[in-house]
Amino acid sequence: MQTLNVRENKSVSGVDFRTREFPMTNVDFEFIANVANEKTGIQLGEHKKDMIYSRIVRRIRALELKTFAEYCSYLKSNKNLEMVNFINAITTNLTSFFREQHHFDYLEKTVVPELLVKNKIKKSIRIWSAGCSTGEEPYSISMTLDKALGDKSGWDVKVLATDLDTNVVSHGKVGVYVPDRLDGLPPRLVKKNFSAVSHPSGTGQAYNVSDHLRKCITFNRLNLLHEWPMKGLFDVIFCRNVVIYFNKDTQKILFDRYADILKPNGYLFIGHSETLHGVTNRFESLGQTMYRKKS
Ligand SMILES: C[S@@+](CC[C@H](N)C(=O)[O-])C[C@H]1O[C@@H](n2cnc3c(N)ncnc32)[C@H](O)[C@@H]1O
Repeated sequence: MQTLNVRENKSVSGVDFRTREFPMTNVDFEFIANVANEKTGIQLGEHKKDMIYSRIVRRIRALELKTFAEYCSYLKSNKNLEMVNFINAITTNLTSFFREQHHFDYLEKTVVPELLVKNKIKKSIRIWSAGCSTGEEPYSISMTLDKALGDKSGWDVKVLATDLDTNVVSHGKVGVYVPDRLDGLPPRLVKKNFSAVSHPSGTGQAYNVSDHLRKCITFNRLNLLHEWPMKGLFDVIFCRNVVIYFNKDTQKILFDRYADILKPNGYLFIGHSETLHGVTNRFESLGQTMYRKKS
């Protein structure tokens, strides 16, 4: 197991976590950071101490424990039971519909028209949203395909949506969003693609994704660091704002695997603060964090 260089008991903001309501020592944080890295690839530097404290405290309260040391021993001896909760607690799931709009514009105006010619014999399109969080990304892909394909009803179009966090995968499958999540979506898209429902928790209104958007998407839990069960190759992979939490070695392994599972000249879209520069040379840059596999 990799040992992180964690020296300070205080956080970067000067908080001494040993004196908090639920004390957390260096050793506890180092243990948590090492398990996170080993199981998910996520790197937790010292600047993440505040975030980890607030997220793991929820687990400590739920389990009626008193200290981080108790939680670490609980995690050690109840791996099968607690690891899923631990992983769900440490992932960052920030997302939105049509986040980084230019990727969807490019998909609509360049990629789909090209695939309609390139794949005309098989009439199939395969897209993977890797690290899909609560589903806004794959549903945005589906809305884009809907627009770009028009009535190409004979086409077999599939979007695989995967994430490591079981809570977000369930949310994506359910496909119900509170009104705030739809802020910024043009009203005509909301009208066409969502129906108003009462929120499953009974707290006000929500929006349910229409069946025509759902029908091409399959949601599954998948750890990107583990084996991938998919057999076929993809035309496009979205892996946006995921590898930002990984170190360069893990990124290199992952991007090489993406190159292997993409069709020749397949597309890879990554997040706005991510780059393949200095990580892999198996893709050519198209600008704006869009890449194409070299043939
Ligand atoms: C910030 S969200 C990005 C969501 C979406 N792609 C976007 O850009 O809006 C990052 C997602 O990556 C997922 N993730 C982190 N490590 C992962 C791993 N090892 N395997 C699969 N998913 C992972 C997290 O659970 C989280 O939902």
